[in-house]
Amino acid sequence: MNNNFIKNLAILIKISAIVFIFFILIASAISCMSLKDLNSYITYTIKERLTNTNDTSLNDFEKGEEIMLPNPKLESKVSLEEALNNRRSVRSFSSKELSTEEISQLLWAAQGITKENTGFRTTPSAGALYPLELFIVKNDGVFHYIPDEHKLIKIISEDLKSNLAQGALSQDFIADASINIIITAIYERTTAKYGDRGTRYVHMEAGHCCQNILLQAQALGLGAVPIGAFDDSYIQKLLNLPEDYIPLYIVPVGYKEE
Ligand SMILES: Cc1cc2nc3c(=O)[nH]c(=O)nc-3n(C[C@H](O)[C@H](O)[C@H](O)COP(=O)(O)O)c2cc1C
Repeated sequence: MNNNFIKNLAILIKISAIVFIFFILIASAISCMSLKDLNSYITYTIKERLTNTNDTSLNDFEKGEEIMLPNPKLESKVSLEEALNNRRSVRSFSSKELSTEEISQLLWAAQGITKENTGFRTTPSAGALYPLELFIVKNDGVFHYIPDEHKLIKIISEDLKSNLAQGALSQDFIADASINIIITAIYERTTAKYGDRGTRYVHMEAGHCCQNILLQAQALGLGAVPIGAFDDSYIQKLLNLPEDYIPLYIVPVGYKEE
């Protein structure tokens, strides 16, 4: 090998190394920019929600007793496939009450926070705007679920289960379930950004949320059923909900009657 060939080879290697480093730098800059974009998107959607003055969730309409819920379990002996295969609507419930752990697990499956720094939840949400608000109706009253702190706030101290059943075209099994999860939506949170199409997104999200509850109930060995037949304004008045909280689903959950 002559000296010229070795020199040329060295130059070629140097040029290749410079080109390679150049491309690495460009690729890192692009990925940093998209991370920054994502970050500003998340901050933007959270800011949007906080500055939406019509949003009554920011008005402290509830000042009752607070119940901190235990942390949810992130493992189970029931596979997702088993839960999907065995889920069936259940309309006969025993008188056994759900434990606080079971209630915690169901609410976490419905709307629990799964990423602390962004506030992302178990259920997906268009633009991460989270239009759903959940309430539970049980023997000792009505409670509002606060995902950020995984806690309940008592808003009513009466047992309204029989009235709830009445407002749902007298589907009496509603009164027998240990708890009823009421999925409500504040449409404005989503339509403010997406216009009319936001209405579609809110309904999709209620479906995601409800299915999570049904599958979690199945995995816990509990029975549940999605209820869509009810009088919206009756339920709203019964639970003393602000005008913009529209009830979309009632989900009775309890131990199955043997
Ligand atoms: C949007 C929607 C509304 C429903 N409303 C009611 C209802 O008001 N009462 C009821 O008993 N079941 C209701 N169901 C449950 C269906 O009757 C049930 O899912 C269907 O019979 C299939 O049975 P499965 O859930 O066991 O698969 C509803 C289901 C959906 C998806």
